[in-house]
Amino acid sequence: MSTLGKVALGMMGRLRPKPTVGDATHAITLPVPLRIGGMSLFEALANRRSERAFARDALPPEVLSQLLWCACGRNRDDGGRTAPSALNAQEIDVYAALPDGAYRYDADAHRLEPVAPADVRRVTGYQDFVDDAPLDLVYVADHARMRMVPAAQRETYAAIAAGAIAQNVYLVAAATGLATVLRAWIDRDAIADALGLTHDQHVIVSQTVGLRPHA
Ligand SMILES: Cc1cc2nc3c(=O)[nH]c(=O)nc-3n(C[C@H](O)[C@H](O)[C@H](O)COP(=O)(O)O)c2cc1C
Repeated sequence: MSTLGKVALGMMGRLRPKPTVGDATHAITLPVPLRIGGMSLFEALANRRSERAFARDALPPEVLSQLLWCACGRNRDDGGRTAPSALNAQEIDVYAALPDGAYRYDADAHRLEPVAPADVRRVTGYQDFVDDAPLDLVYVADHARMRMVPAAQRETYAAIAAGAIAQNVYLVAAATGLATVLRAWIDRDAIADALGLTHDQHVIVSQTVGLRPHA
């Protein structure tokens, strides 16, 4: 759908998901991610950039697995993650909009849990490429987990935590040859509706990931 069309539908509160062609009623168990190897951190930083053109190809399971683990996966026996979180509230949930449905990443189980049997990708942003790229991530803060954080700080802390996750995604994308872009130009109400979020859950930003277009 064109950006203009989406903006118009968004203004009317009618930006909605597409019916899915697949079966998004089951959890997706992800392969074990690599913890060693890959491009050096310095090289990944040298390559990091935003890109806005994507091939439609699905991401292979091991690529999706590595991406989500790098984003905010569990990296220690005490439940710690690859991204920091103020007071260890772990208030950010990463949702994955895939062609066959929308899922929430369960970092402890390293699994994708189904949340909506619909193709939510086009709802995750006004830019046209989000509709057909193979993966749109949505970072959502659950304020119910932030009761120990002073109320005035909750949005700031959650935005910082989401930013750390987004940078992890930028770096793993740079290290594995994927294109990605973080996006704040989104319809937060439409996304919340499509993902079935509660009043405590606030959409912060989205991020598209995929292979670069074929030459
Ligand atoms: C908070 C935030 C929101 C952004 N929102 C968008 C967006 O809605 N659409 C987009 O195409 N790029 C978005 N970007 C990407 C920036 O445009 C991009 O980072 C900037 O142009 C610098 O380019 P670089 O990432 O390649 O260094 C956003 C970046 C940040 C940090």
